[in-house]
Parts: sequence; structure tokens; C-alpha cells
Amino acid sequence: AEPAVAAAVPQAGQADLVLLRRIGVVDPASLDDYRAQGGYQALRRAFQLGPAGVIREVTESGLVGRGGAAFPTGRKWEATARQPDHPHYLVCNADESEPGTFKDRVIMEGDPYALIEAMTIAAYANGCAKGYLYIRGEYPRARAALENAMATARSRGLLGADILGQGFSFDIEVRRGAGAYICGEETAIFNSIEGYRGEPRTKPPFPVEKGLFGKPTVVNNVETLVNVLPILERGPEAYRAAEPKLFCVSGNIVKPGVYELPFGATLRDLLSLAQPTGEVRAVLLGGAAGAFVTDLDIPLTFEGTRAAGATLGSGVVLVLDTSVDLKGMLLRIAEFFRDESCGQCVPCRVGTVRQEEALHRLSQRVDASDLLLLREVGQTMRDASICGLGQTAWNAVESAIDRLGVFP
Ligand code: NAI
Ligand code: SF4
Repeated sequence: AEPAVAAAVPQAGQADLVLLRRIGVVDPASLDDYRAQGGYQALRRAFQLGPAGVIREVTESGLVGRGGAAFPTGRKWEATARQPDHPHYLVCNADESEPGTFKDRVIMEGDPYALIEAMTIAAYANGCAKGYLYIRGEYPRARAALENAMATARSRGLLGADILGQGFSFDIEVRRGAGAYICGEETAIFNSIEGYRGEPRTKPPFPVEKGLFGKPTVVNNVETLVNVLPILERGPEAYRAAEPKLFCVSGNIVKPGVYELPFGATLRDLLSLAQPTGEVRAVLLGGAAGAFVTDLDIPLTFEGTRAAGATLGSGVVLVLDTSVDLKGMLLRIAEFFRDESCGQCVPCRVGTVRQEEALHRLSQRVDASDLLLLREVGQTMRDASICGLGQTAWNAVESAIDRLGVFP
């Protein structure tokens, strides 16, 4: 197995893992190894259940999207599958660009057949003959692992025409992003695949109705998709009893990497595994689009983090000890959003520039009018931006001012 991948998973080889169980254990290049370790059982079960049966189990599992927004996957699949317009498309969002997020990369590099199998099941359930895997351009190793897995699966009757002799045909095309954060937004992915500028479209209409090439499209994140395997292998009830979640832990800690814990564990539980290097000053949850928190007893669930005024987002847990230059970090975050704004709508295009300017002035001299300006600009971005980038560009700054007292 890839040493680099195993090194990114401190729990590698642990028997109770669900999503990470094969990482660092299976040979990512070997279909036989994948099959020997349980691979393709879920697809066989999917064919027994039929498309409606698969969607029923995914709905019963309670699975919600792991890209960050936590939309119920079963509801998304039901809505796509019933659309009368054809063809239906599947898009796997593997653009993973949120700063501090690297869970999808670990899955793709360490267990690529799992994603191919999961995409095949999603396509079967949603009536798609064609899928696109939109992968972050900076992930050449993941892309190589997936392309090898796809070619092998094709040569063994597991991808392409008449999969497993069941009369179902499906194939995947890999498309690479070119370094733009905004191209992880689902409708910007459609524009990118179609050959247009990677700018978000307004929603509604939602992709389930009018997505890629104007056709019904189901878009799922990598981690969301691979959850479908244990749902079908174990059944929705058993899956629900210990639902796994991946966390990307980085910053001032001894053991950075991707961790798997069942929902309900607290931030303190997670940090006891990752081992902070010193006194924890704050934790940035959810990445640049997320918020700083100081309460380590927050349960790491979508609801628990929301109740604490934060977000689980894509599972970023960036740990900061007392040595961190918080003002410098806020400036870096503001610079990131200003740089990555696609410029299509005014609140975000202008707001991200004004936010960065105000932070520069505040880091020289704290001034009440600049703090007020920041709040007004931040609220306007949140309320009036077209997409999640502008809507979340002020979250981290706001939480640093209110909770960490960065500009007293
Ligand atoms: P969203 O809430 O607009 O949509 C979530 C999903 O649900 C989308 O697929 C959308 O099409 C679907 N949906 C929502 N309402 C629907 C309806 N009524 N009918 C059918 N489908 C519906 O959120 P968005 O903008 O897709 O994602 C925002 C999240 O992305 C944030 O939480 C952020 O943390 C995360 N994010 C993750 C990144 C990563 O690298 N993983 C990068 C940047 C942001
Ligand atoms: Fe583009 Fe920002 Fe508007 Fe999103 S919010 S469409 S990134 S300008």
C-alpha cells in the first residue's frame, strides 16, 4: 500500500474503522485485493435491491452530504431518479478545495475502487449511464489511482457495458479542475465541464431537476458516496447505530491526519487522539468558510456544531495553540476569499476586497468605524451573495472578533 496514504491516517489498520478500514491495508492498484477485502459486495446487493430499493436504504440510513452542506442524500436521489427528462447524469464532486480538507484525497489515493463501486451504485439508483468525476487539479496521485482502477474495472466487466451481466451500463469520465476554489461549487462544476467559465449558476432550479447540460443531475461528494457501501453491506439500521464521520485534523498537533469517529464524539475526544502540542487557544471548524470555537465539549455532529454557532462543514479541525498570530491568519483567510471570488456578483466581488482592506487597517490600529464597516460588509455578503463562497466569507472573521477578541 501507499506509504504516504497510510501516514495520513493515524488510525490505519484499526479493526473498528468503517470508511478508512482499507486505507493503508489494501493495495490501491489491485482489484483482486479490493475484492478480497469486501469490495463489490455492495454493488451485488444493489442489483438485488433494484434502484428503488437502494434509494430506500440510503434514505433509511439518514445519510446527509459530507461535502459540507449536510443535505439528505436519499432525498436528493429520490428527486433525481423520478425526473422524466433524460439522460440523468452523475457528478462526483472531488474538487476538495476547502483549506484544511484532505479526506477525499485519502480515500481516492488509498481505496480508489471504493469510489468507483460507490459511483456505480449511485448511477444505478439514479438511472445514469454517464458519470463525471470532477477532481481537483492538484491531486495527480489520486487521479492516477482512479484512472488505473477505472481501466481495471472496465476490463473485468465492473464498469462500462452490461456490468456484472446485469444489463446495466455505466461509465465514468474524469475531468480535472484548474486550481479555482469556486469550481468545487456544484453548478460551477457544470459550467466547467461544459466548457464555460467556472462560475456558479443561480439555484433554483436545483441540479436534481436541471443540472449538467440542463439535465437532471445528482452531485455527491466523495465521502458521501463511499458511505453508501457500508449502508448496503450492513443494512441501514446497523449503519445508523455507529455512523462514521471523517475529520481532517491539522495545525498545532502531534498527529495530524484524517480521523474516523462515530457521530457524537466531542472535539475533546478527537483532540485526545490527535494530541495538541500545547494549550489550545481555539479550533477553526469547517475551514476558511467555518468558524473559530473554544468549547472543546462541542459534539462533532452537524446539529451540535450548528447549535454552537459553528459548522462541521467538510470536517476541518484546525487546532491553534497560543503561539498563533491570529490577525495574520485572518488576513490570510480574507486574502483567500478575495482571490477566489469569481467576481460574478457585487456583494462578494466588492465585499471580499473591502473586508481585506479593513482587516489590514485594523491590524495596524483598532478603530470602531472599521469594526462596524466589517460587520456591515460581512452581513451584506452573507445575505446577498449568489453562492456559498460569498455567503461564508465573513464567518471566520466574525467568530474571531466575537469569540477570540482579536481586535479589542
Ligand atoms: P447548499 O445548501 O446550497 O446545497 C447542498 C446540496 O443540496 C446541493 O447539492 C443542492 O443542490 C442540494 N439541494 C439543496 N436544496 C435542495 C432542494 N430543495 N431540492 C434538491 N436539492 C437541493 O450548499 P452548497 O453551496 O452546495 O455547499 C455549501 C457547503 O459546501 C458549505 O457547508 C461548505 O462547508 C462546503 N464547502 C466544501 C468544500 C470542500 O472542499 N469540501 C469547499 C467549499 C465549501
Ligand atoms: Fe462568484 Fe462570490 Fe458571487 Fe459566488 S458569491 S457567484 S464566488 S462573486
